[in-house]
Amino acid sequence: MRKVIIAGNWKMYKTQGEAAEFLMEFMPQIDDAPEDREVVLCVPFTDLTIVNKSLHGNRIRLGAQNVHWEECGAYTGEISASMLTEMGVRYAIVGHSERRQFFGETDETVNLRLKAAQAGGLIPILCVGETNQQRDAGETERVIISQLEHGLVGVDLDRLVIAYEPIWAIGTGETCETTEANRVIGIIRDRSKSPQISIQYGGSVKPSNIDEIMAQPHIDGVLVGGASLAAADFARIVNYQ
Ligand code: PGA
Repeated sequence: MRKVIIAGNWKMYKTQGEAAEFLMEFMPQIDDAPEDREVVLCVPFTDLTIVNKSLHGNRIRLGAQNVHWEECGAYTGEISASMLTEMGVRYAIVGHSERRQFFGETDETVNLRLKAAQAGGLIPILCVGETNQQRDAGETERVIISQLEHGLVGVDLDRLVIAYEPIWAIGTGETCETTEANRVIGIIRDRSKSPQISIQYGGSVKPSNIDEIMAQPHIDGVLVGGASLAAADFARIVNYQ
């Protein structure tokens, strides 16, 4: 059975006070969600302590938004897997398109981060996806396959989650057609040659489209940006029908 993973990516939002407020409102609303849905919150590093404390005994898993490939060293602004696991972190997003676009992340650095995350005991969530122009040029499959081929060298597929996030759908309100997302995710599953791998969809997931997205046979969960910031919206996503 493939695991269903509903993950929120808070990006650079929420102070500790705001995180605490969110949790107070959010937790009671997911009490009745089926047990087999893994709920993950990928929060800013500064929120890890407070979120971890508030999760005690709860079913939410803690996630980070990045992880460096070295255990320690002169890498200003970076963080290592052991620093994260010590804080109770289980998951780390790797290769999000915003990191590729604004912080020079490449398939090579993504690969290094994935391997280090796994070696350090984290489950990485690898993000792949095409731009608008690549989609319009009919290059979606080529781009995704290339990102996977380069990114996954030496990576253990049994301890990995993949998120298909078409870049043009992130933060735009423009969701990928659910059947198209399902098709691309099916291709990713075939290429990974790992039938058990959980593959998420990400890009403008919201309460109004979650039921249709999760009804698709290849889609095992979602990676949610904007709509994970509002407790009621993210709770509705977790409680998809
Ligand atoms: P969005 O972001 O849900 O706001 O489109 C998704 C993501 O960046 O992971």
